Amino acid sequence: MARELRKLGFTKVCVLAGGYNEWVKAGLPLEKKWNIKKECVTCHESVTPEIVSDWRLSKHSRKEVSCSVCHGDYHSSEDDVEKARPVTPDRCTLCHQIQGDQFTAGKHAQAWYAMRALPSAHWKSMSSLEGLKDCESCHRIGIKSPRIIKKLLEKGVGFGMASCDVCHTRHTFFKREAQQPQACQTCHNGADHPQWAMYSGSKHGVRHGLKQMGVLPESTSAPTCQTCHMEQGDHEVRTAWGFLAVRLEMKGDKEWAAASRTILRALGLFDPDGKPNRRMKVMKRRDVLRQTDADWKKERKKMLVGCSRCHSISFAEQELNKGDFMIRKTDLLMADAIRIVAGLYKDGILERPEGDTQPFPDFMAPLKRPRSIELKLWRMFGEYRMRAFQGVFHSNPTYAFWHGLGEMEQALCEIKEMAGLLRKNAGN
Ligand code: HEC
Ligand code: HEC
Ligand code: HEC
Ligand code: HEC
Ligand code: HEC
Ligand code: HEC
Ligand code: HEC
Ligand code: HEC
Repeated sequence: MARELRKLGFTKVCVLAGGYNEWVKAGLPLEKKWNIKKECVTCHESVTPEIVSDWRLSKHSRKEVSCSVCHGDYHSSEDDVEKARPVTPDRCTLCHQIQGDQFTAGKHAQAWYAMRALPSAHWKSMSSLEGLKDCESCHRIGIKSPRIIKKLLEKGVGFGMASCDVCHTRHTFFKREAQQPQACQTCHNGADHPQWAMYSGSKHGVRHGLKQMGVLPESTSAPTCQTCHMEQGDHEVRTAWGFLAVRLEMKGDKEWAAASRTILRALGLFDPDGKPNRRMKVMKRRDVLRQTDADWKKERKKMLVGCSRCHSISFAEQELNKGDFMIRKTDLLMADAIRIVAGLYKDGILERPEGDTQPFPDFMAPLKRPRSIELKLWRMFGEYRMRAFQGVFHSNPTYAFWHGLGEMEQALCEIKEMAGLLRKNAGN
């Protein structure tokens, strides 16, 4: 790691396993070990005064973790600004090994590469991957390799490499800010993952909101996103079902397993002859799918332990079962709809989208010239189905039923009607 950091411009890093705490334990004077340059602060006091005042509010300023410790010391005046280096999670991990390792093992760390590998995962696909806006404004939470960072720097994209600062924003890096559900709000909202809207409208979120307003006492119990997803401050964020709510192994329920298999085919994970393909490999590597029952159960168990701080286990178990049941229900509706559209392709009534060689519709293919029936199908999967099960898991009946299941049932009706008309027009 020392070499990587030096390559990124940290000229005098002293790398010691364990970081800051090890130094303190060893009684080593900090000034000698860290690359502390007082002149950064002095000059930036007038150049960017509010960065300095935020930094002064942070615990870092009290522990001499100053500008040059994070940004290196290549730059020292207004003429060489481009030499100041962006900060990567490796830099934070030097001193915060536990959080860094947990973060790296979790799903957030995969966000960058999942985005690049599966550009049409959200039903409302955005136009481009270029520049640090659109997809990247959220997916920048993912860790990037030194090679990618170098490329981004060459392209002039100087910042957005730090991952950790999406919850602990710079330069205060407060723990308290990251503990609030609002820390997740910017990214976890929108058409296919409106967790903020669902949570803040649920009893959980409402109670927490009233606590923040000071109406309810500070000790009132009310879970935040972090209570359920970062139990005990664990930075390894991961859930049982994940975003797409599909599993490779579905034991027991044959009807559900068949519906789920149809969805996996519509996600384009198999060749026409039924063999797992390259996309399946990517999904496995990026941890998009839960591969075994055991893998799924491990996360479920973790979640239940969290609920049981405030609820009885059996209450919580029943509630989570309702979420699974909703996935089952929506999968059956979804599979019906997919088969209707696949049937239209097969019978030559609906022309297959350009370049598509699959017998099934492909949810991950960009919709270049979508027909209404395909648009409805995509929306049924990417918006209504998401809202239905996410709404149950986040105790929000409006999302689960009005925006979720109800919309799905209506969409299936419309798809059937449209297919009927298309067949009639084609004369069969
Ligand atoms: C003599 C004044 C001066 C000193 C000393 C100085 N800086 Fe700067 N720094 C600037 C100016 C001016 C800018 C450009 C600000 C702008 O674009 O508005 C800048 C920009 C930066 C940036 C942003 C770079 C970018 O690409 O946007 C960082 C990070 C930074 N400085 C860190 C440091 C660190 C760390 C040190 C000490 C090693 C330091 N500065 C010392 C004047 C200084
Ligand atoms: C604990 C590490 C850390 C310390 C200490 C630190 N920074 Fe930063 N700084 C960051 C991170 C992280 C970013 C965002 C990087 C990214 O987005 O890739 C950043 C970004 C910046 C930027 C560019 C973004 C902007 O908002 O303009 C400037 C300028 C900057 N820092 C100046 C400073 C100065 C001046 C100091 C000292 C008073 C300082 N930093 C201390 C971590 C640090
Ligand atoms: C040189 C070592 C060092 C580096 C590098 C460093 N930190 Fe820290 N960090 C510390 C120390 C020391 C503390 C204070 C610990 C204490 O007082 O308990 C701290 C505290 C924190 C806290 C807790 C703040 C609070 O309000 O309680 C957070 C969050 C944090 N750092 C995040 C980061 C992030 C994110 C980065 C990278 C952008 C980073 N740190 C880089 C040493 C470092
Ligand atoms: C900067 C944007 C951003 C912020 C802020 C953010 N997330 Fe995420 N989160 C993402 C992205 C992007 C993914 C998808 C990553 C992937 O799976 O590749 C994700 C995935 C997740 C998952 C995924 C679960 C799974 O198993 O697939 C959970 C749970 C989660 N985030 C919880 C949180 C919580 C809790 C917070 C606030 C403490 C938070 N996130 C803050 C962007 C963000
Ligand atoms: C507003 C923030 C935001 C934007 C913009 C965004 N995403 Fe996401 N993305 C997320 C979140 C949050 C998740 C995880 C949702 C969940 O688990 O419910 C996610 C999930 C994903 C996943 C699935 C990862 C997994 O493991 O399940 C992929 C792939 C993805 N996004 C790609 C993209 C692409 C490509 C774009 C641009 C076209 C994009 N995203 C734009 C926030 C965003
Ligand atoms: C009371 C606990 C609880 C709270 C509070 C909570 N979640 Fe969840 N979350 C869950 C459960 C349960 C699941 C489904 C877990 C599974 O797959 O079995 C879930 C799933 C997720 C997922 C994966 C996709 C999905 O929605 O099913 C993301 C992303 C997520 N939550 C983010 C958040 C964010 C962001 C917040 C705060 C705005 C939040 N959650 C608040 C319990 C909670
Ligand atoms: C998804 C949001 C999120 C991201 C991303 C994130 N953190 Fe945190 N972090 C939190 C939360 C929430 C807490 C408070 C945990 C608790 O309640 O103990 C926290 C606490 C911390 C603390 C204080 C620990 C303590 O007990 O005092 C440090 C240090 C820290 N994080 C470092 C990091 C580093 C380093 C990264 C990047 C590798 C990072 N965080 C990324 C949400 C996040
Ligand atoms: C920090 C405490 C806390 C945690 C953790 C927690 N809850 Fe809650 N939950 C509450 C409180 C408080 C209420 C509001 C009780 C009421 O409505 O009377 C509530 C209400 C609910 C409700 C609505 C019940 C109703 O009567 O309308 C459901 C469903 C629920 N929780 C499920 C869960 C699940 C599932 C988990 C774990 C994933 C969980 N909760 C985790 C505190 C918690």
